[in-house]
Amino acid sequence: MILVLGAGGQVGSELVEKLRAKHGRNKVLATDVRELENQNGPFEVLNALDKEKLHDIVERYKVEEVYHLVALLSATAEKNPEFGWKLNMETLFTVLDLAKDKKIKKVFWPSSIAVFGPNTPRQNTPQQTITDPTTVYGISKLAGERWCEYYAKNYGVDVRSIRYPGLIGYKSLPGGGTTDYAVDIYHKALENGTYECFLQKGTYLPMMYMEDAIRATIELMETSEENVKIRSSYNLGGISFAPEEVAREIKNHIPQFEISYAPDFRQKIAESWPASIDDSAAFEDWGWKLEYDMAKMTEDMLKNLG
Ligand code: SER
Repeated sequence: MILVLGAGGQVGSELVEKLRAKHGRNKVLATDVRELENQNGPFEVLNALDKEKLHDIVERYKVEEVYHLVALLSATAEKNPEFGWKLNMETLFTVLDLAKDKKIKKVFWPSSIAVFGPNTPRQNTPQQTITDPTTVYGISKLAGERWCEYYAKNYGVDVRSIRYPGLIGYKSLPGGGTTDYAVDIYHKALENGTYECFLQKGTYLPMMYMEDAIRATIELMETSEENVKIRSSYNLGGISFAPEEVAREIKNHIPQFEISYAPDFRQKIAESWPASIDDSAAFEDWGWKLEYDMAKMTEDMLKNLG
């Protein structure tokens, strides 16, 4: 059985669908902190901090593989640093320990562009570089990466990870990140024809269409163990753009669309992150290749949301 923790989130909801289509709907157990509707396979309400219940579920369902997608994202964790740290770290340890104790065989855990900081080279950010995150979320992801590598090297745990860029999809809404504007803008463009952006013009960030992100996740999990040379987390580049560029792309479909700017506290977070990412290690190790550019993504987003 494959277990997905945080199945109601932006990544979780799409990943469960894809994994169920691939392996059969009864082979993927979805869990979330709240009841989820429209489940077409096994589901359990689970607070991932409830270690005992998580252990019980792993045993009862004979879980072999875990996708650990539980986290407070960058903006939300800034509002509740203590809980952000607790949730992001404790749940990771629970899952890594299950693998260390041979109760599960394989783990996926996402990291993020948030591990980088103001002293990281911003353009084409290398795999190995300065990591000085300024957010609680980024600090937790960086610490998590170090622990993943530690468990892999010292205990032989098969843990695999990707530093997701901002993720954009039409099936679900993101929950409390700095890159959320790039999803919201499509919804507002269709609803109102205008969008007030919480990031300033010229703020370049690496983004990725959800189709690509889910495919990358599954490809990394399916590649043979010896291909996974990086056990902290792989850079993944995606598309790099600023708000005015996605606005221009939307205008090609909705000519009257207008964007305005009202930056808030998230501007500072965005400015501490890379503008673009070098993901050549993912290409070399497990053959990663991007499919969606901004034009293709925008067309798909507007078609599916419209
Ligand atoms: N999209 C995330 C955020 O903005 C980054 O991992 O918090």
